[in-house]
Amino acid sequence: MQQAAMSDGQQRRRRHASRSLLAWYDRHRRVLPWRAPAHDIADPYRVWLSEIMLQQTVVKAVIPYFDSFTRRWPTLADLAAARDDEVMAAWAGLGYYSRARKLIACAKEVMERFDGRFPDDEAALLALPGIGPYTAAAISAIAFGRRAVVVDGNVERVIARLFRITTPLPAAKREIRERAADLTPAGRAGDYAQGMMDLGATICTPRRPACDRCPLMAMCEGGQAGDAEDFPRKTPKRTKPQRRGLVHVAFRGGDVLLTRRPPRGLLGGMVAFPSTPWTEPAAGDIQPPPQLVPLTHGKWHEVPGDVTHVFTHFTLSLTVWIAQIDGDTMAPADMWWSPISQLEEAGLPSLMQKVARHPHVVSWLRRQSVT
Ligand code: ADE
Repeated sequence: MQQAAMSDGQQRRRRHASRSLLAWYDRHRRVLPWRAPAHDIADPYRVWLSEIMLQQTVVKAVIPYFDSFTRRWPTLADLAAARDDEVMAAWAGLGYYSRARKLIACAKEVMERFDGRFPDDEAALLALPGIGPYTAAAISAIAFGRRAVVVDGNVERVIARLFRITTPLPAAKREIRERAADLTPAGRAGDYAQGMMDLGATICTPRRPACDRCPLMAMCEGGQAGDAEDFPRKTPKRTKPQRRGLVHVAFRGGDVLLTRRPPRGLLGGMVAFPSTPWTEPAAGDIQPPPQLVPLTHGKWHEVPGDVTHVFTHFTLSLTVWIAQIDGDTMAPADMWWSPISQLEEAGLPSLMQKVARHPHVVSWLRRQSVT
């Protein structure tokens, strides 16, 4: 990696900062299931799996998924040999399902092209499915001990405060990266990267940072000025657009109708209740999916209380329709009847779990499963 020339003073400051951070990490590191003991190098499979899960998801939510994945598929070879639908179901509830599809593709590619061993070089990692610049740098540092500039949201906040960067995000990203690159030491790359993440998560928090306990306080411009919390500055967000749609819960005796969403797009490849496309509110009347119409002959009824869910780019409001279908009705193409008793293991993503927990759906589910 290219580094800009630094003055003696800057170099001293950088060494001091990274030493202070590493000493702090040795005492205060979080114990997390994918981490090796300090000074050690972790298993690349576990690092990769954790980093994919941690993209867009907080540590607390990731831990149970990481534990269950590694119990079930202890090695990359195990995961690569698993059935796709099993992996997708095991991911259910973690969100951002394209990550799971790319996880499967990446596992297979590493088996085929690299004999099951992750390449230990950032550029080769970057070429694998689901691995972007942040993840390639994190794996390179944490699993292979290579110097790499690892900048996630936590690190962005730490750096913006250390240097009191007044440019708002996202425009500040380049400057933050340059500053982060200057600070990154050559040694203990993985510990340094995770030390910065831990500092951001536990001390340099978004609200009310604990500057009095911060190992970098002496060199932190925001901390010294007493306004660290005001950084990073952010360009105001536009409010999220709304979308809406209908979701259909059809019962047939003790069964409920399920489908699998198309492989691309939101919740791609996940098990779901059939639903219409999710459109802008002004799009006019929404019609049920045509393949459901002959099934039900007007038996659908709308229940009060929409299910709402916030996605990254919009808020979705789904109106729930319920129908009781005759006992011998076949499922339409690409749909199947699933026993209500197995709904919990069906691998429904969070949005669809919310539909299953809608009070009207719950009372129908109870009534149907006892008849
Ligand atoms: N967020 C992303 N990667 C992480 C890691 N290795 N430790 C803690 N938080 C993280």
